[in-house]
Amino acid sequence: MTDRLPADITEHTVTAATVASFAATEDGRLRQCLGVLVEHLHAAVRELEPTVEEWAAVVDYLTAVGQKCDPTRQEFVLLSDVLGISALVENINHRKVGGATEATVLGPFHLTASPPRDLGESIDEVGHDEVCLVTGRVLNVAGSPLPGSTVDVWQADDVGYYDVQQPGVQPAGNGRGLFTTDEDGSFHFRTVVPAHYPIPVDGPVGTLLDATGRHPYRPAHIHFIAAAAGHLPVTTHIFVAGSPYLDNDAVFAVKRSLVREFEVVDDPAAAAHGLPAPYRHAHVDLVLEPDPAATP
Ligand code: BEZ
Ligand code: FE
Repeated sequence: MTDRLPADITEHTVTAATVASFAATEDGRLRQCLGVLVEHLHAAVRELEPTVEEWAAVVDYLTAVGQKCDPTRQEFVLLSDVLGISALVENINHRKVGGATEATVLGPFHLTASPPRDLGESIDEVGHDEVCLVTGRVLNVAGSPLPGSTVDVWQADDVGYYDVQQPGVQPAGNGRGLFTTDEDGSFHFRTVVPAHYPIPVDGPVGTLLDATGRHPYRPAHIHFIAAAAGHLPVTTHIFVAGSPYLDNDAVFAVKRSLVREFEVVDDPAAAAHGLPAPYRHAHVDLVLEPDPAATP
């Protein structure tokens, strides 16, 4: 009887057999992804030769990552971030062309819709003493303004917490705003200078950082997503010049082109938008590539 069975699958043939098992997958991209993933995962297992207990620990770890997720916590995004995968995906998908603003990671805190706000409004609903003015423009790669663009902004506060991390302490929507650029493609808003902060470490990603002697800090930054009709949106940050961790971001997302001075404006004559000096000021131009799929 047994001579009618196919040859046993062995450690030498299991990879080809698994890849072949996907041959009938209609979606060609899915078939390709599964095949490449299986080949690379099997290669890692061959190289590492994990014990059964070690593999069970991997399964337990990934289970814990999934169990830590909820509507305001995305531990898988965090894991992708600290493993450098989010930065790699961003860099592959947004190879900088023609002076467009460099993209960087979205991160796990863009969970709630930013409240629409008028130009000039403050996104600091707590009302800190030290005001920061952020001005900017949305432009195309030829330098022409893009009026009517949307600029979605979110940031941590001056001690390094996002609103979603402090329900009941910060009002929902604090540190967030959705702005529409004026006829010059310009936008401006008031805020506080954000602080550097640790990514959340009270879950399995924190355990991984601990076990590897890594720190959890990100340099101070403000997140932006700028979008305009006929253009590819950009997901990016500006980083506060001089912030700790600019040279050692826990999620590998710093780009030199995105570092901005947050200057102290101390001269009443130079004060803009009716702000009493002294205040801090940062400027960012968000330059969008044309969307090749858009009809001219
Ligand atoms: C953030 O900048 O919001 C962020 C990015 C990656 C991991 C954690 C936080
Ligand atoms: Fe952030």
